[in-house]
Amino acid sequence: MSDAIHSDCLVIFGITGDLAHKMTLPSLYQLQRRGLLTVPVVGVAAPDLTDDELWQLTRDSVYAAESARGHEVDEQALTHLVERMTYVGGNFTDAGLYERLAAHLSASSHPLFYLEIPPALFGPVVEQLGAAKLAEGSRVAIEKPFGTSLDSARELNERLHQVLDEDQILRIDHYLGKEPVQDIAFVRFANSWLEPLWRRQYVEMIQITMAEPFGVEDRGSFYDHVGTLRDVVQNHLLQVLALVLMEPPGAGADPVGNRRLDVFQSIRPLTADDVVRGQYEGYRDIDGVAPDSETETFVAARFHCDTWRWAGVPIMIRAGKKLPVKATEVVVRFRKAPQFNWGENLQRVTGHDDFLIRIGDPSGIAFGLRVKKPGVDEVEPQMLSLDFPSTLGDLPSPYERLLHDAMTGDHTLFPRWPAVEATWNIVQSVLDAMPPVLPYAADTWGPLEAQHMAKHWGGWRDPIELAHRTGG
Ligand code: BG6
Repeated sequence: MSDAIHSDCLVIFGITGDLAHKMTLPSLYQLQRRGLLTVPVVGVAAPDLTDDELWQLTRDSVYAAESARGHEVDEQALTHLVERMTYVGGNFTDAGLYERLAAHLSASSHPLFYLEIPPALFGPVVEQLGAAKLAEGSRVAIEKPFGTSLDSARELNERLHQVLDEDQILRIDHYLGKEPVQDIAFVRFANSWLEPLWRRQYVEMIQITMAEPFGVEDRGSFYDHVGTLRDVVQNHLLQVLALVLMEPPGAGADPVGNRRLDVFQSIRPLTADDVVRGQYEGYRDIDGVAPDSETETFVAARFHCDTWRWAGVPIMIRAGKKLPVKATEVVVRFRKAPQFNWGENLQRVTGHDDFLIRIGDPSGIAFGLRVKKPGVDEVEPQMLSLDFPSTLGDLPSPYERLLHDAMTGDHTLFPRWPAVEATWNIVQSVLDAMPPVLPYAADTWGPLEAQHMAKHWGGWRDPIELAHRTGG
């Protein structure tokens, strides 16, 4: 849904940070290359940099990203990108910075402010933008995390709403910017044979696994206050789940956002009995982690969605660090066909009827199909699979999509406040009364208790690694 006013300037707070280096600057380069970046870009950060230094930083980041992908840099596009970039330095809480910024932006009436800064600064920066009369006509895109609990998210939201209308706020969840995540909805609703089966009458269970083989490494002091449930389940994985469960979007305002919201509002708040938390052995030795830390680095949870489509279907999400592979996969497991007779042979149907959507690298879709074993009267399970990058070509990165949508005012892929509030509401009861954290060995699928959770419905489907490990 676009409110049609194209931003006339992109202002990036935190342009010297890690996220900008790894994601934002390479994404701007890709947008420039595709002819989708047409406005000036202003970098804002604390260091005292010249425009030349910002350009160098941008070049370094683009070269690093392209060489990691084995691609040549398009020098002409990179030059066009840096030519549209300028820098304004200063302390984010100093009113002087905003006076300088206002002078710098005098030609812009509809800037997009993108805040990739520590969350404690979201409120103060938006207040300063308001005080400097920069908020009017603008949009503000905000990185995660949006709060650390239901109460803190509400507080942050109220603070932002003192200055901004809801339509001016774009809360970023980079998972919604991932092409294969959007594909969940496209594949469901653009294929008529699939949609009628996608419901409790045919679906045995739903699973989402997000596995990362690396640990917390140098993010100990951040992660130890967060844990897996807050870090990736409340946001990324519930957003993915909403696309799996939602009704077909029809007419009306924000159809996709509203259908996702319906799902969140139909999921029961978690209880401690629904959740298994794990911590990998060795986590407590990491710099910044408390020696007696109870923070989870793994979580498995069972959700209940009380709609006519999904009531009674077990819905399980598990996510963790130091797991055996790097993969994120959605599994929709269909009920097994009954046995049948072929001549004198009774045919038993083995294996699972799993429909997989692979969100990680390489992304794609696969589903189980049973065929006849050649030369023998037996059923043989096979997988049909479609690999997105090799079939469809390079997929744009999540930040390319999200920055472009933020500039054009398309809210479809940005969770609005009621959705964020509803997702906090789902997890808050467990954050208030956490079950104990159980140890697990690195390179395993978490505590045994988590593995047992799915046993009754055929067990978890452990993703297999299809790509080379790339680290973080
Ligand atoms: C981030 C989390 O939001 O998402 C990280 O803070 C996690 O802990 C990351 O590793 C995963 O993102 P992606 O796109 O690499 O799957």
